[in-house]
Amino acid sequence: MHKGKKLYEGKAKIIYAGPERGTAIQHFKDDATAYNNLKKSTIEGKGVLNNRISEHILNSLNQIGIKTHLIKRINMREQLIRLVEIIPLEFIVRNIATGSLTKRLGITDGTVLDLPLIEYSFKNDELGDPLVALEHITAFKWASIEEIKKINTICLRVNDFMLGMFRGVGIKLVDFKLEFGRIEINGKKEILLADEISPDTCRLWDVVSEKKLDKDRFRKDLGNLIQAYQEVAHRLKILPEEANISEVKFNKPTAVRLKKK
Ligand code: TMP
Repeated sequence: MHKGKKLYEGKAKIIYAGPERGTAIQHFKDDATAYNNLKKSTIEGKGVLNNRISEHILNSLNQIGIKTHLIKRINMREQLIRLVEIIPLEFIVRNIATGSLTKRLGITDGTVLDLPLIEYSFKNDELGDPLVALEHITAFKWASIEEIKKINTICLRVNDFMLGMFRGVGIKLVDFKLEFGRIEINGKKEILLADEISPDTCRLWDVVSEKKLDKDRFRKDLGNLIQAYQEVAHRLKILPEEANISEVKFNKPTAVRLKKK
């Protein structure tokens, strides 16, 4: 598939122009960053796992009528996506208080919230993606009130779906981040779920042990990040039990190679 020029490079992904107008190729890197880029590393295999996990989740959401930018995965590290105008906001959905919420407000870590809480951050690396209120969003025209209402509804539907999906494989969905984009289809503006949903953008705890199966393993120097992401992929039945990411041929559109233990 023809890959055009680089349009944007973020911390964990690169977006290239796609083969047709209105399409793009999203490439998943192995780079990991935390604390607004203060902590950086490269973790071999992370991009491959996030590509597979995000493909699985976005395809599943598509099946329940949630429109996403994903057209299809094209190889181990890349997806063909619709090019959208990204809304410059991160939508954080929380079921259990942890991370920045507990630090900011002094809430006890692990407090189960009565209802899911949606927070908004302004996407701006230089400012460290600051938390903003609905009033900032409308005052600075980052999104309209109608768009936010639609997006909030989508966030809650995604949360309901993912809570069930993860609970079914023994994982608590603690919180996650979503991004959205605008696109014009047949002269009509639509909102599409964009970016990725993966252990990089969710907090996932084992139901029994509360073991962290997400990027907190990197943020908090817990180690074994790839093993944790593989565990998520295995439980979601994306990778067969025996698959070992170290045996996957990177950058090639081949299936996962298996070696029996
Ligand atoms: P936080 O507790 O650090 O605010 O993070 C809440 C959730 O959002 C957590 O699952 C990690 C995710 N997240 C991202 O994916 N990207 C980000 O830039 C931030 C700040 C959070």
